[in-house]
Amino acid sequence: MDLKINGKVAIVTGASAGVGEAIAREFAAAGVKLVLTARGADRLSATSQKLRNETGAEVVAVPIDVTEAEAGEQLVEAASKRFGGVDIVVNNAGRAHPGGLMENDDAAWKEMEDIKLHAMIRLNRAAIPVMRERGWGRIVNMSSVGGIYPNPKLLISHVLSAAINNLTRGLALEVAPQGILVNAVALGAIRTENWEENMLPKVRQTRPDLADLGDEELIARVGAEYTPVGRFGTSEEIADITAFLASNRNGFVTGCTIEASGGAERFF
Ligand SMILES: NC(=O)c1ccc[n+]([C@@H]2O[C@H](COP(=O)([O-])OP(=O)(O)OC[C@H]3O[C@@H](n4cnc5c(N)ncnc54)[C@H](OP(=O)(O)O)[C@@H]3O)[C@@H](O)[C@H]2O)c1
Repeated sequence: MDLKINGKVAIVTGASAGVGEAIAREFAAAGVKLVLTARGADRLSATSQKLRNETGAEVVAVPIDVTEAEAGEQLVEAASKRFGGVDIVVNNAGRAHPGGLMENDDAAWKEMEDIKLHAMIRLNRAAIPVMRERGWGRIVNMSSVGGIYPNPKLLISHVLSAAINNLTRGLALEVAPQGILVNAVALGAIRTENWEENMLPKVRQTRPDLADLGDEELIARVGAEYTPVGRFGTSEEIADITAFLASNRNGFVTGCTIEASGGAERFF
């Protein structure tokens, strides 16, 4: 499908790995100019070079921690300096945080609020004036199905995902008259480094009945048990949805949280 975004400029956060990298690849293949960010400069630089080699896309790597107060402004400034502005923002940086209310202190809540919510608010606030001037913009916020169906094993992530879904809906109504569409993608279990690092150890803890299984077998088993389609999702599947929402083929979907979870309401 021609996404009709050739020549547009996108900022993708958390773009050095997993879902963010797959989204950046989809945009690069559609002729979008990219500002990519993550904290780890080496991996971000390697991913950016890989995308240039694969697609010939123009890619600027801006290593930044999105929780820094000025990060949103700095990313929009980088896009404006190199490409003259920004048309598309994908707020994807983040990770899961295991545990329920009694397992997490204020510091854990504060850290996750900064990563998940405040970084998103700041980048959107910095990009919208530029999109308004252009009369066109697309914002996609990464969320979780836990924002709709909370699971106490991941309480902080899921409370914040609900906030992201509400932010998405409210902001969509605020900026729709200016040609800016805002949507969220609520991820189910997507097999990435994040999942393997954060979730797999937790699954092992909570499922002693599966202790004998190796990682691959365990992932296959958990995917089959919890996901109606019978498996984990892939980063590429999330990139396909995101690219459509962020494209010029989407003109009438805004304020929605799209569940991309293979029908699942929980991961484990
Ligand atoms: N995978 C799933 O099953 C799943 C389910 C629900 C929701 N999600 C959400 O979907 C998004 C992508 O997940 P993923 O599985 O693709 O994660 P991933 O494989 O761990 O990749 C995360 C990316 O974000 C970057 N990042 C993390 N913290 C950052 C920060 N403070 N500032 C800037 N960049 C940062 C990482 O690079 P650096 O570490 O170098 O910064 C990396 O590029 C996340 O927001 C995650 O919470 C994922």
